[in-house]
Amino acid sequence: MIWKSALLLNLYFVRVLVLTGAGVSAESGIPTFRGKDGYWRNLDPAKLATPDAFARDPQLVWDWYRERRRRIRNAQPNAAHEAIARLAHHADEFLLVTQNVDDLHARAGIPAEKTVQIHGDIFATRCSRCDFLDADRGGSPEPPARGRLRSIAPTSKSDVEVPRCPTCNALMRPGVVWFGEQLPGNEVQRVENYLDNGACDVVIVAGTTATFGYILDWALRASRGDGELIEVNPQETPLSRFATRLVRESAAIAVPRIVDELMDSGSSKL
Ligand code: APR
Repeated sequence: MIWKSALLLNLYFVRVLVLTGAGVSAESGIPTFRGKDGYWRNLDPAKLATPDAFARDPQLVWDWYRERRRRIRNAQPNAAHEAIARLAHHADEFLLVTQNVDDLHARAGIPAEKTVQIHGDIFATRCSRCDFLDADRGGSPEPPARGRLRSIAPTSKSDVEVPRCPTCNALMRPGVVWFGEQLPGNEVQRVENYLDNGACDVVIVAGTTATFGYILDWALRASRGDGELIEVNPQETPLSRFATRLVRESAAIAVPRIVDELMDSGSSKL
């Protein structure tokens, strides 16, 4: 079946959708949520990623997000991130919808206009009351250049305290979507527009438990008609029974191979 997309990718206009979750960043050392390494200070992440948790103990929530920012700053994109970036540059139409709030897809070179971070961006900081958005990306304006480690020690008081909004003095919060919160409307619209523009020839879903209905819905709508739906995940998920191809391997191993297969039968176009 995959030869079909490979052939298409060289001969015809090919549309690709890639959906990713925490499993894709696991091999970069970033804990997943529901994996055994998802627990921090013996607390269930679900109890830390909610508006109630923030209202109850904003310092604890900020400590957790700062810890995660530090881990991400010291992580590097892995072979799965890089392969998806290659596909983004070679497919005629491409969209990445990631649930990951880390910046590893961006650091692997996927342009922002081809990326939807549907659960937000951990390095964004915004006011919990007004529309103020702090563009200072959590103390480090730009992700570190490849291979260079940024100092992890907190540099000032503002690196440990709960920041306040310079406009309305309310608490600032990480720019992520918490449990029970609405998805960002403009980002959902970008996904809908992409799906409305036609079915995809290839849909790759990697490293997610596909817990949320919208992930299942987008994957199935994108692969409507006879598009390929490839699931990369060592574990079974609710999406598995709809997949045209199941790859029970780790993303850093399987995704580069799948992308190479798609491109290797290629003519000079790729
Ligand atoms: N390669 C591929 N898949 C992997 C790997 C790997 N190396 N390691 C783990 N996985 C798979 C697991 O089998 C699991 O199915 O990745 C999935 C990780 O699942 P979750 O931890 O539930 O992460 P995710 O699906 O991204 O969670 C969705 O839930 O907690 C919220 O907002 C949070 O974005 C997150 C959302």
